[in-house]
Formats: sequence, structure tokens, C-alpha cells
Amino acid sequence: MLNQRPIEIMQNWHQKYGTMVAFRYGHQLAISVGSLDIAQDLMGKRGAIYSSRPRFIIASERMTSRFNSAIIPYGKQWQNQHRIMNSVLDFSVVNRYNSLEDMESKQTLVELLGSNDFEASISRYACSIVMTLGYGIRVEDTNNEIPAKLLEINAHPFEAIGNNFYRAVELFPILDRLPGFLAPWKKLSAKVECETTEFHMKNLEIGKSSPTWNWVKNALNSKAGSQVSSKELAYVIGTLEQAGFEAIITVLRLLIKAIVLHPHCLKEAQRELDQVVGPDRLPSFDDLPRLPYIKAIINEAMRWQPPTPFAIPHATTQDDEYMGYRIPNGTVIIPNIWVMSYDPKIFPKPYEFRPERWIQNPDLEHSPFGFGRRICPGRHLAWSSIFILMARLMWAYNITYAHKDGKRIEIDPWDINLTFTAASRPFEASSQVRDQKKQDIIERDWKNVCKDTTEILEEIRLKKAV
Ligand code: HEM
Repeated sequence: MLNQRPIEIMQNWHQKYGTMVAFRYGHQLAISVGSLDIAQDLMGKRGAIYSSRPRFIIASERMTSRFNSAIIPYGKQWQNQHRIMNSVLDFSVVNRYNSLEDMESKQTLVELLGSNDFEASISRYACSIVMTLGYGIRVEDTNNEIPAKLLEINAHPFEAIGNNFYRAVELFPILDRLPGFLAPWKKLSAKVECETTEFHMKNLEIGKSSPTWNWVKNALNSKAGSQVSSKELAYVIGTLEQAGFEAIITVLRLLIKAIVLHPHCLKEAQRELDQVVGPDRLPSFDDLPRLPYIKAIINEAMRWQPPTPFAIPHATTQDDEYMGYRIPNGTVIIPNIWVMSYDPKIFPKPYEFRPERWIQNPDLEHSPFGFGRRICPGRHLAWSSIFILMARLMWAYNITYAHKDGKRIEIDPWDINLTFTAASRPFEASSQVRDQKKQDIIERDWKNVCKDTTEILEEIRLKKAV
């Protein structure tokens, strides 16, 4: 484990031993699950006992005050936090955010008329959506410092989980009792905790004093929200910001990479968009059911290079038995989405990016958002914001390799930062608007759209009240 990437080691184990692989690290028993059906059986059907998390001493207990919803154990505290999150992210609520996504995606289209800086534009887009909903803080331009700050805050717990030295503390918790001068993680964790708390508390206060509806205010007006301290609430909303922002840009970057590398997929998407949407308007949310190929591209990207290869590990809270195997209380369960994604029996030629597989087999299943009670609560928001931006980008632009001094700048499809998450490293690409009429529509729509987030959030509040 120390010299090789865990993903590769586990992939080899699954090839050798099958869909369920049990192993121990230190005293800890873990099971990697490489089959969708088994994952759904255990974490879905038996969710009452498969929904906790392993103990994360550094990332949770030290760095995030045991308040980061994604890594706290299952129980009353999680249930209460989950209610707060679900009340703003449930399927029935998320379509109220379409007017915000509409405006933000129009800004991104306009930005790309004068720039090829996809990275800056998608960061602004993703960040502005979650910060506006969370606190009423709009990220108006690509130089804003909030996206970088969110990434920095996010990186620390992931680094702690991925770092071999710190992992030793999770394996042998007794090490955490060492005095500070022998335990460097304590000083680092205290610094991270202080910075994270300061950032989330500052935003919480802005959210509270903002003139209109936002996630902070929504929580404060709810029973679940009134049962937590200010600091805990700051972390619940802050966790949504951190997780939501990073996951959305990871998938947008992956999609742009996939279409640059596979120009025939962009052509096919444009054929579908031209047929369904036509040349006179931008794609809208209502078009989604009639755009199966766009949907297939998004599904295939998340299968081809799943953004969270191990989801977030679950843990059992009772002894259990499954297919004749005894699974003790406290076992770590790793939903191995990476292994599931490359199963050639389900996804023939799994390393190829082939959106067609989702059209040829509409029953194909994949679970990039995880399983059971801990399934990603932000999945509906992620889908709608990714869909609308990608549909509009592909309708309006040809997106191709960038060139320098007349030479194409190559993109390595597998240049991924593969740790707890799998994020494509930033790359250069180029966009050219497809024709003058599309440029006119982009400029006209941006001029006409309501950019006043107070008005947009007020409209969301009124829709919520109905
Ligand atoms: C395409 C984008 C996204 C992907 C691929 C993704 C993926 C995941 C996965 C795999 C998990 C772990 C599920 C499990 O334990 O079984 C998760 C959890 C979580 N996600 Fe997402 N996510 C995305 C977007 C978002 C967004 C937009 C938000 C918030 C606005 C969000 C908030 C969370 C939170 C709070 C959790 C922890 C849930 C819990 O432990 O109860 N995610 N996500």
C-alpha cells in the first residue's frame, strides 16, 4: 500500500479474487465491493447497518471539529444534519434553482467568447452557484479569490486521509495520544481547523444578514437547524459548499476533456442539439428528456473516470452475514466504483469513452453518487448545473485542442490526480463559437437575463413557500 496506488492494488485483487475482497490494515477489517448489485444489497437494502463511516481521527475529529457531514458517523447528529441538507437539495426543491443556473451558464458562455480559460470559467460557474445559494454571495468574476480558498480548505482533510504518515495515526489510534512535539499532525490540524472554522463562520454571518433567502436562512428557520450550534451549522452549509464546488468542477473539466479527445462525440451532440433545439435559442432545462445523447455523454464521463473512485467508505454498526460471509460490526465497506466502472462484462471495452453504450442499453446502471442512506445529497443540483452548462456549451461552441506556435497541445487522457478523488489535472483547450447567429444569441441573452441575485433568491423563496 505504501509504494503503489491503492486503486491499482485493489483492481488487481478484484481480478484475482472476485467481486468482494476482504483485507486488514492494522486491526481494521475492510471489504472492497466491486459489484453494483452487492453494493446496493449491502448499503441500500441493509442501510440501517451499513451507513456509518470509518473513524477519521485527523480529517474529522481534529481538522473539522466532528462537524463535516460527509465523514461523521451514522447516528442522531448525522440524521439532523442530513435533514438540513435535504431540505435544500431534495429533488423537489432543486428545480427552483434553475433561474440561477440559467443566468450563471449564460455568463460562462459570454466569458468564453473572449477567452479560452475554461478552468477559470468553470470554477467561477460552480462556485457562484453554491455560494449564491448558500449565503447569497455571488462570484461575479473569474479573479475572485473564493474558488481558490474553497479548494485549499478542501485539500487538507483529503491530504490527511491520503498521506501515508498520517494514515498511520488512523491505523494505530494510540499514536494520537503522543505529545504535540512527537505528533506534528496535531499542530497542522489545529491550524486547518482554525482556518476552516473562520471561513465557514464568516460566510454564515454573511448568509444570516443577507437580505433574502439562502441555505443558511432556510436552516435557521427549520426545526433541524435550530437544534445545532452556530459552529455546527456553519460546517453543515460549508461542507455543501466544499463538496459541491469541487465535485461540479471536477465533472465539468472531465467532460470538456472527453469531448476534446473525442471530437466525433461533440459532433453527434451538436447534431442532436441542432435537431431538438434548433438555431434560434439556447437549450433549456425542458429539453433534457429529448436530449438522450447529451445525457449519455455525462453518464459516460462519470463512468469512464469516476470522480470519487471509492465513494466515501461506509462502515457497519452491527454484525451481519452476507452470502455465507460474516461481516463484523465496525467493518469498513469500500464501494469500489472504480472497479465497477471497468467491469468488461457490463461495460465492454471499459477504458474507451463510448456514450453510445448508454443509448444502446438504456437499462445500463452505474452509481457515481454512492449508495444507500449516505448517497450524495447534492446529486440533483450537480446534474442540473452540469447538464445546462454542457448542453449550452456544445450548442454554441466547437471545443478543440489548443495550439501553440502552430503545434497542437496534447492532452493525456489519464493525467488524473488519483487519490481519494480522481480529478483530471487542468489542461488547455480552445473554443470557437459555431456561427455569428449563435454569438448574437449568447450576447442578447446575457444582456436580457436578470443578474440580480437578490431578485433570483427572492423568487426561489416564493416558490418554496407555495
Ligand atoms: C457530479 C458531482 C458529484 C459527485 C460525483 C458526487 C459524489 C459523491 C459520492 C460518491 C459521495 C459518497 C456517497 C456514499 O458515501 O455512498 C458523496 C457524498 C456527499 N456529497 Fe456529493 N457528489 C457530487 C456533487 C455534490 C454536490 C453538488 C453537493 C452539495 C451541494 C454534494 C455534497 C455531498 C455531501 C454533503 C456528501 C456526504 C453525504 C453523507 O455522508 O451523508 N455533492 N458525493
